[in-house]
Formats: sequence, C-alpha cells, structure tokens
Amino acid sequence: MDPENRDEKLKAIRDELLGFTQSPLYLYRTENHYFPVVGQGNHYATFMFIGEAPGKNEAMTGRPFCGAAGKILDKLLESVGIKREDVYITNIVKDRPQNNRDPEPEEIELYAPFLDRQLEIIKPKIIVTLGRFSMAYIMKRFGLEHELGPISSLHGTIHTSNSLLSFPVTIIPMYHPAASIYNTTTREQLFNDFQILRQFINKNEVA
Ligand code: URA
Repeated sequence: MDPENRDEKLKAIRDELLGFTQSPLYLYRTENHYFPVVGQGNHYATFMFIGEAPGKNEAMTGRPFCGAAGKILDKLLESVGIKREDVYITNIVKDRPQNNRDPEPEEIELYAPFLDRQLEIIKPKIIVTLGRFSMAYIMKRFGLEHELGPISSLHGTIHTSNSLLSFPVTIIPMYHPAASIYNTTTREQLFNDFQILRQFINKNEVA
C-alpha cells in the first residue's frame, strides 16, 4: 500500500543520485563500481535513523549500515525491540568519501537537499541522528541551533521542533555506532541511550 506514492518519489531521488555528476564523489563512485546509498526501510516509518556517509560495504551494495557499524546498529535496534525493516535508515552524504574520511562541509551542503526531500516524503515523527555530522545538520535544519553542543553532552537527549514539517518532530542525537566499535564505554552509552526510544514505540503503528 502506497497511497502517497512515496516509493515513486524516493525512486526519483535514487535516479537523480545515480546521475549526480556535480558531486566531487561521483568519479570515485563510478571508478570503483560503487553505488550511491539512498536509504533503506519502511517508506511510512515513524523512526528515521540518519548516519554520516556510506563506508565501503555500503557503497559496494548500495545499502546503508550493512558493515561493522551496521551490525552494531542491528543489535541496538534489537535491544529495544525495533525491527530494522520497520524503520528508515539513511545518511546525509549519499556517496562514499575516499577512504572513509569525514565528509567535507561542501559535500554535506551538496547532498543535504536529498535528505530534506526524504524527510518531507517519509515524514518521520522521531529522528535519531547517528554521529556529530547528522546531529549538527538536523538540529540546524529544524531550527534548534540554540540547543546544539558537543555530542558528548547531547547524546541521548530529546529535542522537539515543528519548524520544518507540519507536526512536532522529536530529534534524538546519539553517538555513531562506528565510534563504539573499539570503545566499550561509548558502546555502553549507546545501548543506554537507545533505551530512550522505547517510550516512542507505538504498538499500534509500524516503528
Ligand atoms: N557509517 C555511516 O554513517 N553510514 C553508513 O551507512 C555506514 C557507516
């Protein structure tokens, strides 16, 4: 069931990204036979998870969070009883930056309009940002720059804004799962922070 043609609208974004020759990452993608990573999951999801940019596994498959960080995300979701297929998972930057370097501000600016369109199409009620790049972008985009701070103080906090979509959206910054691969303290913190999501799971609708 797709009453609002969301599948088609999201497919149009994918088609545009495939031909996104203006991106400085386009050549790197095509030379390596990588895919753009648009997003994956339920197009009518209540929860949207937003990471940074695809890594190698993601670029090779076109699927977000399918490598080491993705395995942690899967466990985090499982720990609060959320099914991965019920949520929507994406990134700000849709192509892999060379050797997993941080995305450049110009790359974030270039790819962000695609994320904005995904937000407008999917209309998530809860946005979980994974890492400092998506935290900063989303908080600013939703008019919450005055609540911004370092991720070490904002992780696991709850923010609300109705400045972008036509209803109040809850924004919860979390550490990036990749930051917890070798850091057990961050990993424990991430699992603790995820418990916050339980209160937003409405049993009557898809997560
Ligand atoms: N890290 C991200 O930020 N996104 C992915 O899809 C994978 C790793």
